[in-house]
Amino acid sequence: MSDVKSMSDAEVTIFVCTNCRDGSDADLRPGIALIDALRRATADKPIAVKPVTCLANCQNSPSAAFSHRTGWSYVFGHLALENVDAIVTGAMMLAKDERGFLPLRDRPACLRGNGMSARIPPFNHHEDMPI
Ligand code: FES
Repeated sequence: MSDVKSMSDAEVTIFVCTNCRDGSDADLRPGIALIDALRRATADKPIAVKPVTCLANCQNSPSAAFSHRTGWSYVFGHLALENVDAIVTGAMMLAKDERGFLPLRDRPACLRGNGMSARIPPFNHHEDMPI
């Protein structure tokens, strides 16, 4: 595998599930190859790539999540090696957004619609709401 970048050096961390299956009979879990490809593709970018055992998105395997340093987090499914460029594009869109938000406009197709399972606000998130 490529060198591992520290999360403290990253604006966005991509967590890739190492336990997901892709529906094939292959022994190798797709997340392992995805992590290696993403680490190579993000070597010169403010993005860290980390393994995670499960994102509770198993029905949409293979899964990964974006976590912005101070912003929002996103969980995605149905990912594959051919999505590496799109995943990096999306992670960079999140890294560059001043609000720590992943814009829907121009977001790669695999990171929208059925490809996205959840978005999670930062812990300090606050919206005024009439009660
Ligand atoms: S096994 Fe990958 S999300 Fe649960």
